[in-house]
Amino acid sequence: MAPLALPDMAALFPSDKPVFEKDSCDVVFVLGGPGAGYGKGTQCALLVQDYGFVHLSAGDLLRAEQDRAGSQYGDLIRQYIKDGLIVPQEVTIKLLENAMSEAYANPPNNDAWKSGKGRFLIDGFPRKMDQALMFDKVIVQNSLVLFFDTSDEVMVERVMGRAKTSGRADDNVESLKKRFVTFRETSMPVVEYYKEKGLAVVVDASPSTDVVYAEVKKVLAEKLHI
Ligand code: C5P
Ligand code: MG
Repeated sequence: MAPLALPDMAALFPSDKPVFEKDSCDVVFVLGGPGAGYGKGTQCALLVQDYGFVHLSAGDLLRAEQDRAGSQYGDLIRQYIKDGLIVPQEVTIKLLENAMSEAYANPPNNDAWKSGKGRFLIDGFPRKMDQALMFDKVIVQNSLVLFFDTSDEVMVERVMGRAKTSGRADDNVESLKKRFVTFRETSMPVVEYYKEKGLAVVVDASPSTDVVYAEVKKVLAEKLHI
């Protein structure tokens, strides 16, 4: 891949303080292996509906930027996604910051946001240690990590089922193999890091939606008191 100059983090985030204040929002990272998205997406939708979270998917933001006319990072994003690799953090973190600012500028009309405190579910992020550390430093400290755990068999089955309709360039066996390697080698250390900090909760995503959601609600009550 031809190297492409990315702006460095210091230029993108000139302040030495995080963009948002910890007291002004609860950020919940939502993670899972490739294809865990099926159950994860349903859980996120329920949380948006019941708790007023704003749901931001890092993968969706990257795909939108990839397709945006005039984006200087379109080709770079396309290549990384196809290869199942993690896109350089500068791009993803900036896209998240923009989306968060947008939510503060046009907050959803619900009690949680009316109280002045933002609620974000950030889905599929952070997938690499540098993203985790940098987000904490330049955007805001997160409050919780929900890790949806499923077996490899279930993940493969879900992705290959989704492949028929998703139109995603990485829903094929070859890309999926690479995504599994990235997940194990690059993303799992992030989950371990948050577990050690007492910030990550593992939720078994195999049971039915209702059972999983009951568990998720319990976790939010315990950890975020909401
Ligand atoms: O989460 P999702 O499966 O939609 O992500 C698709 C792809 O987007 C990943 O395989 C990866 O190439 C890229 N991605 C990334 N960094 C993230 C999230 C997604 O590079 N935090
Ligand atoms: Mg997804």
